[in-house]
Amino acid sequence: MKAIALTQYLPISHPDSLFDTTIERPVAAGRDLLVAIKAISVNPVDTKVRAPKDAVEKTPRVLGWDAAGIVEAVGPGVTRFKPGDRVFYAGDITRPGTNAEFHLVDERIAGRLPESIPFETAAALPLTAITAWEALFDRLRVPTPPHAMPRKSILVIGGAGGVGSIAVQLAARVAGMEVIATASRPESIAWVRELGAHHVIDHFGDMQAQLTAAGFPTVDYVLILNDTDRHFPAATSIIAPQGTICTIVENRDTLDVSPLKSKSAGLVWEFMFTRSMYGTEDMIEQGRLLEEIARLVESGQLRATGTEVMSPINAANLREAHRRLEDGHVIGKLVLKDF
Ligand SMILES: NC(=O)c1ccc[n+]([C@@H]2O[C@H](COP(=O)([O-])OP(=O)(O)OC[C@H]3O[C@@H](n4cnc5c(N)ncnc54)[C@H](OP(=O)(O)O)[C@@H]3O)[C@@H](O)[C@H]2O)c1
Repeated sequence: MKAIALTQYLPISHPDSLFDTTIERPVAAGRDLLVAIKAISVNPVDTKVRAPKDAVEKTPRVLGWDAAGIVEAVGPGVTRFKPGDRVFYAGDITRPGTNAEFHLVDERIAGRLPESIPFETAAALPLTAITAWEALFDRLRVPTPPHAMPRKSILVIGGAGGVGSIAVQLAARVAGMEVIATASRPESIAWVRELGAHHVIDHFGDMQAQLTAAGFPTVDYVLILNDTDRHFPAATSIIAPQGTICTIVENRDTLDVSPLKSKSAGLVWEFMFTRSMYGTEDMIEQGRLLEEIARLVESGQLRATGTEVMSPINAANLREAHRRLEDGHVIGKLVLKDF
């Protein structure tokens, strides 16, 4: 089968950083689905795993986690799907990736994809939607209406990126919160407003001052979706007493959590590969939440976040998508479709 792979970890400008190849088609065992890939999308995790280093792979390594496609075959333990079903999913970081014609995924982390949602629309969603959903509802435990509490507020740092584009919508439209998103350019500011942000501030400016000017001296939740080292100190001063900060981005320096003590404020992490990496008992929640995401897209409550589709799925297009993600200013999601 066709695949895009690497053996060396090279800068994306190098033609061998990702190359076209053919590899053996895998066989579904256990609870795995063999999926014929119709569309994929690219995430910063792809570029982080591909980042230059000295290691060399003996056999070509396939990256990529987001995918939408059709079930081609199922393992003997599969109960939720059959050949011919349409699925979308974000895969498992410990397994070979989706940048190939066929791919194996555990049925518990795949969602059924309705006929009304095209593959290229679906491929943009899984990784970012799982991250945003788990961050808001599993980690921050944001209440959903109807509830008796006063309207809560959330600051989404990095609102126009892949994860932010879903998080802003879920926070505003599903959780009914007052949403302050950050964006630094006219295009990204317009995008987060379209997605439902009630206020927009600049993550490169003084966020505390801008929030106060917008009428929010503190917020109930802070969701950090970019550069934790840079934003964590501001988050600890912006967070309200008894509030919670969630970050999804690894830190390089030690984080000072001491300002949280007097506020009884919390810090939680979200890593969307935790459930598949540790095979947690509730892994199937990812399959279920993807189906809820599909329902929200079908009903028009959630706007799909793919902003550009490249075709075909080949090394040249994939290198271009990685290059643009590494630049750090992608709005929404980049999708590739059809081999
Ligand atoms: N833990 C997890 O499970 C998980 C899951 C998904 C992603 N992640 C990580 O989360 C990060 C974001 O992922 P993504 O897919 O949303 O990325 P992305 O789409 O590449 O994010 C691009 C956006 O980031 C904004 N941005 C750039 N520099 C920023 C800064 N210093 N502070 C705040 N915002 C900034 C840009 O806005 P402007 O153009 O307006 O500046 C742009 O819209 C990545 O590091 C990724 O690896 C973690």
